[in-house]
Amino acid sequence: MKIGPHTLQSNIMLAPMAGVTDRPFRILCRRFGAGLAASEMLSADVRLWDTPKSRRRMDHCGEPGPRVVQIAGFDPSMMAEAARRNVDAGAQIIDINMGCPAKKVCNRLAGSALLQDEALVARILHGVVRSVDVPVTLKTRTGWDRDHKNGVRIARIAEDNGIQALAIHGRTRADLYQGEAEHETVTAVKAAVKIPVFANGDIDSPQRAAQILRETGCDGVMIGRAAQGRPWIFDEVNFFLSKGESRATLAPEKVRDIMRAHLEDLYSFYGDETGVRVARKHLSWYFRQHPGQEALRNRLVQIETPQEQLCTLLESYDTRAQRAA
Ligand SMILES: Cc1cc2nc3c(=O)[nH]c(=O)nc-3n(C[C@H](O)[C@H](O)[C@H](O)COP(=O)(O)O)c2cc1C
Repeated sequence: MKIGPHTLQSNIMLAPMAGVTDRPFRILCRRFGAGLAASEMLSADVRLWDTPKSRRRMDHCGEPGPRVVQIAGFDPSMMAEAARRNVDAGAQIIDINMGCPAKKVCNRLAGSALLQDEALVARILHGVVRSVDVPVTLKTRTGWDRDHKNGVRIARIAEDNGIQALAIHGRTRADLYQGEAEHETVTAVKAAVKIPVFANGDIDSPQRAAQILRETGCDGVMIGRAAQGRPWIFDEVNFFLSKGESRATLAPEKVRDIMRAHLEDLYSFYGDETGVRVARKHLSWYFRQHPGQEALRNRLVQIETPQEQLCTLLESYDTRAQRAA
């Protein structure tokens, strides 16, 4: 599949998640075969960029292309300026966030709240597309509430204004994350436009990815929460789609090595103090899949230093291996 000049190695992509899809996690998911991995969203207000958090969100050092930066905002000229600056800083695709129901964004009629104002949506998309010479994509929901599912109209507006791919989360803004994602509206969106469409929402296994691709006719799928603590899901989905069978479960030593490398990347990206805190979150997700390991998980998320965090993790694996031998 192509987005603008970029040929994607896989049509399975990582969903942007603020607080999760930092550079180390994006690189990890790309290594496991995610075709694209957008950055955490960045406010279009450039006055807010002079903070360590924003600077980290704009850091793409060592990240494989195409590098996608997601921007969120409500003002067409600010969005255009934010897009331009990110392209100057190395973004190869700009993704516009009209899918996030987060308060901080929506207080300013941004994210999915924008879906209430289709004329403004058109002005933003038009302005951003015109301001950069890289592809611009749009991430959105099925509408702003269940009585106003204007996802198909938004998709047509997007296509008419030069957007080159869409990702549709099968919930409305009012749904937040409640209930199950519905993919009927996603199917209707795919049928209404010619640009590539990615289905998103509650895709948590290779089988579910295959089913959603079949049912919606979409060009690809986007996976968010199911990749937390399981970045190898992209490899599992790609394998299943190409071979029609499931990949063997990863050996514990392999999982240990993935976690170890991930933690080391976090320490070096954030520094020791923040790195340990961010690592706790990922450790909790990794350990979700290890019932019976709650005590170890609880210990790991209280540790204050990288050395101790890493040693405790590795020792626990050694102990398990000795017990199994
Ligand atoms: C912690 C978290 C942060 C998120 N941050 C963003 C974001 O910055 N931009 C965005 O477009 N969507 C964001 N989302 C929504 C996801 O991209 C995705 O649409 C949603 O989680 C549904 O997909 P899933 O069921 O595969 O998780 C976020 C979701 C979560 C759980």
